[in-house]
Amino acid sequence: MVKYRRSNWLNRLLLGLGCLVLILITQVSDATTGKTLIVATEPVFPPFEFQSLGGGLQGFDIDVVNAIGQAAGFQVKYQSIPFDGIIPALKAGTADAAVSAMTITPERAKVVSFSRPYFKAGLAIAVAKDNETVKTLDDLQGKAIAAQIGTTGAAMAQKIPDAKVRTFDSAVLALQELSNGNVEAVINDAPVTQYAIKTGNLQDVRVVSQLLTEEYYGIPTALNSPNLELINRGLTTILENGTYAQIYRKWFGTDPPPLPTSAFTPSASATEPASLEALKVITNALPTLLAGAVITLQLTAVSVLFGLILGSLIGIARLSKTLPLRWAARAYIDFFRGTPLLVQIFMVYFGIPAVLKGAGIAFSFDRFAAAVLALSLNSAAYIAEIVRGGIQSIEAGQSEAAQSLGLDAVQTMRYVIFPQAFRRMLPPLGNEFISLLKDTSLVAVIGFEELFRRGQLIVAENYRPFEIYAAVAFVYLVLTLLSSQFFTRLERWMDPVKR
Ligand code: ARG
Repeated sequence: MVKYRRSNWLNRLLLGLGCLVLILITQVSDATTGKTLIVATEPVFPPFEFQSLGGGLQGFDIDVVNAIGQAAGFQVKYQSIPFDGIIPALKAGTADAAVSAMTITPERAKVVSFSRPYFKAGLAIAVAKDNETVKTLDDLQGKAIAAQIGTTGAAMAQKIPDAKVRTFDSAVLALQELSNGNVEAVINDAPVTQYAIKTGNLQDVRVVSQLLTEEYYGIPTALNSPNLELINRGLTTILENGTYAQIYRKWFGTDPPPLPTSAFTPSASATEPASLEALKVITNALPTLLAGAVITLQLTAVSVLFGLILGSLIGIARLSKTLPLRWAARAYIDFFRGTPLLVQIFMVYFGIPAVLKGAGIAFSFDRFAAAVLALSLNSAAYIAEIVRGGIQSIEAGQSEAAQSLGLDAVQTMRYVIFPQAFRRMLPPLGNEFISLLKDTSLVAVIGFEELFRRGQLIVAENYRPFEIYAAVAFVYLVLTLLSSQFFTRLERWMDPVKR
């Protein structure tokens, strides 16, 4: 019987593996029937690239690249990646080309090769509808500005004296930040902001009429990639045969403006700049990363403190004799432990102000407060279980003995149970502290410049992901090793026998 079962199990495994091999083979044969290019895109940039409700990709860029593929005879396979990851992906060869409304700039042209321009755009400032003070770039000095990480908009914002720039993973989030009233302005590609306003997805926001720049979008590939010729050929074909104009009209409702054949005169032929050695890249980045580490530590310390207080209360409530209290504590733990921290951060930071605004209450979040709130609400759920486990692990005989000595319930808890329980809680609390320290990297999504975000910002400038993220990882490792040292000492210090 047992033997029969096992062979049954083995058969299924073999069948599964067989299917996998078949799928792989069909994929390979698919690729051999025609050339397929992997095209990276960050599909949160309507109307250029965005997801349809059904989940498929759509947008002006997508239509253009599909048409180019048809004209030049290659298949396209899209790969979604963050905008600031596109150039590293091209350099690493994980994607053959990219389409992401990417502006052709001299700095980028040093590390990737661009197709001929396929769109004329420009940056514009967006402000709240009732904001009358911002008319030019100079009016933004010293103000809080949001932009998407790694974009020309972010670079422009960074140049404004004393401006407090907050970078977000997508332009949509940066615009949300503006409509929530947390920043004074957003610098973004004008067509994208205008489209968001026109579709009604962005309310109470207007675009300052004057364009800041004139920019041309291109399709980047790895430096001097052989695919470049193919892409340019397809692009030229669709520009000449009217397909391009047709796509343009579909998305923008007007005829396209004329496009130059190149965005700027390249200084010399594109060659990889003499690359800095890895060590130099890291030492250059270290001061910025360490400054980020300080913020990471602050964030961890404050969140742990609140998490401990709230978590202890909830842990004790979990043991209460009152049923509703026990249930409430249980529900709290289930919710915060059962949903992703990332989702909780978004709910707190973007959700709460939006809901309050809908209800007519003006409210804007201090980012540190929002980050601490989300992190401590989450860690309280875990700490509550640690506290409960610690208390329950103390044998019933202890409280019986305390009571027979005449201590009341609170005194029993305070002098007998808790001191012993706390020692048992220390190792899991140490775990929780280390998890929380690492989880602070998630608040980068709300533009918080802690350690991880600082790393991302550096990569967006120097396109050296390996060295920078290795350095970031190293700094986290140092921080967690130090904290685990601290907890080991604390444990020893609290142990009456070893002390
Ligand atoms: N044109 C701007 C740039 O190249 C922004 C592009 C952002 N694209 C996107 N898919 N999010 O920097």
